[in-house]
Amino acid sequence: MIMKIGIIVHSHTGNTYSVAERLKERLMVTGHSLALERVSAFNDEQAKAGSIRLKEVPEISGYDALVFAAPVQGFSLSSVMKAYLTQVPTLKNKKVACFVTEFFPYPWMGGNRAILQMKSLCESKGAEICGTGVINWSSSQRNSMIAQLIERLSSSF
Ligand SMILES: Cc1cc2nc3c(=O)[nH]c(=O)nc-3n(C[C@H](O)[C@H](O)[C@H](O)COP(=O)(O)O)c2cc1C
Repeated sequence: MIMKIGIIVHSHTGNTYSVAERLKERLMVTGHSLALERVSAFNDEQAKAGSIRLKEVPEISGYDALVFAAPVQGFSLSSVMKAYLTQVPTLKNKKVACFVTEFFPYPWMGGNRAILQMKSLCESKGAEICGTGVINWSSSQRNSMIAQLIERLSSSF
């Protein structure tokens, strides 16, 4: 089935966005309709999700499936993505994949925790999680991690 897939990204320095762009290119080959949208905040540096004032807030009701992507910040999901997912009205009947990028070389250095936070926020809105992944930016395996993530996620829709 051809789906309308939205890739919704928070990216402070561009790493997560660059992976999302590659995922978009790959998913387009499968025939799906793709859109890449940014989530941003006026006060991006704010550590507490409750104090974030969102600036770009993508509307997702028109998508059949979604990918949410964000950086790990302070061993946790970025506050901007936390604030965004908290205000999303519903994800019922939508397939959702999530990934994060983090500086440290191992997923247990914040990445796994951030993915659990993303999953639980999405599931609390009724989403069906179809795939997740962590990219460790300082890993010597980074390029193959990105390639594997893209293959895995693109076959999960
Ligand atoms: C405020 C802040 C906190 C961060 N905390 C972590 C962390 O706890 N663990 C980690 O591995 N990387 C951490 N990083 C690094 C980012 O997760 C990493 O560079 C990521 O790929 C950035 O993605 P982006 O370019 O899409 O913003 C932090 C970066 C910033 C700016």
